[in-house]
Amino acid sequence: MERIKEAISKARAKQSKQTSLSSRAKLGNQADETEKITYDQTKVVKLDTKHLEQNRIVTFDSEDPDSVAFDILRTQVLSKMEENNWKTIAITSPSPDCGKTVVSLNLALSIAKQTEKTALIADFDLRKPRVANYLGLPQDKSLYDFLEHDMELNQVLVNPGLPRLVVLPNTVPIRNAAETLTSRKVRSLVEDLKNRYESRIIIFDLPPLMAADDAIAFIPQVDCVLLVVASGETTPAEVKESRRQLQSCNLVGVVLNKATEQLKHYYY
Ligand SMILES: Nc1ncnc2c1ncn2[C@@H]1O[C@H](COP(=O)(O)OP(=O)(O)OP(=O)(O)O)[C@@H](O)[C@H]1O
Ligand SMILES: [Mg+2]
Repeated sequence: MERIKEAISKARAKQSKQTSLSSRAKLGNQADETEKITYDQTKVVKLDTKHLEQNRIVTFDSEDPDSVAFDILRTQVLSKMEENNWKTIAITSPSPDCGKTVVSLNLALSIAKQTEKTALIADFDLRKPRVANYLGLPQDKSLYDFLEHDMELNQVLVNPGLPRLVVLPNTVPIRNAAETLTSRKVRSLVEDLKNRYESRIIIFDLPPLMAADDAIAFIPQVDCVLLVVASGETTPAEVKESRRQLQSCNLVGVVLNKATEQLKHYYY
C-alpha cells in the first residue's frame, strides 16, 4: 500500500514539474469540480481589446452583441461534448479562409469566460499559424520550439491574462505538417494535454480539409470536429466532400460563417 502511495506521489510530482500549470481542487464543497489554476511559470501576456476587435475576437468582451452567437455555439458544443465525455475538439473547414481561427478563438474565450471549464487553444495549423497574431501575442517561443528543439511545454504555453485560458501558439511554419501531426511526439502531447485536467476543453485550430492532408491525418486523435463553412464562398460540393471525409468522425456541428444577414453573423 505504501509503495502505491509513493508511486502516486512521485507521478504527481513529475506531472507538476513537467507543466507550468498547477491546479488545486477548490476546497470545501467536494461536488464543485472547479479547478483553481495558478500560472506559476507560464508566461502571462495581457491582451489588447482593440487588437482583438480588429481581428473579430468578440467574446473577450461579453457585452459585445456579436458574442451572443458564440454563446449559443458554445452551449451547443459543450452540451454534446459533456454528454459524451469528450474533451478535445478540432476546428476545420473545406477550403481556406472560412474563419476557422476566428471561430476557434471566440469559442475558447467564450468557454474560459462564461463557464467553469478551462480552455486550451492549440494552433495546429502548422503551415499557416495565425492564433498568436490574432491574439496579439509576441512572436516568441512556441510549438515550433517544442517540436523542433525539444523545448519544455511550460516554456511555450501562454496565459493571455484570463484565469481559465491557456494558449499553445505557433510562430514559425513547420514543414512536413501531416507527418508532424501524426508523429509520436504530437500524439503524446495531445494525450498529455488531454489527461492533465479533468474539466479542460482543448480546441485544435486546424488547416482546411481540401488544401492538404494535414487535417484529416490529425483528426483521428481528437474526440470531435466542428466544421466551419463560409456563406457565399463554400460550395455545396465542398460541404458534401468534407462531410464524406469526416464520416467516420464525431461531427458536432457546422458553423455557417460570414453570413450577410443583418441580425446574425454566425449560425449553428
Ligand atoms: N464572420 C466573418 N465575417 C467577415 N469576415 C470574417 C468573418 N470571420 C472571419 N473573417 C475574416 O476572414 C479572414 C479569414 O479568417 P480566419 O483566419 O479565421 O480563417 P481560416 O479559416 O482560419 O483561414 P485559413 O484557412 O487561412 O487558416 C480573416 O480576415 C477574418 O477576419
Ligand atoms: Mg486559420
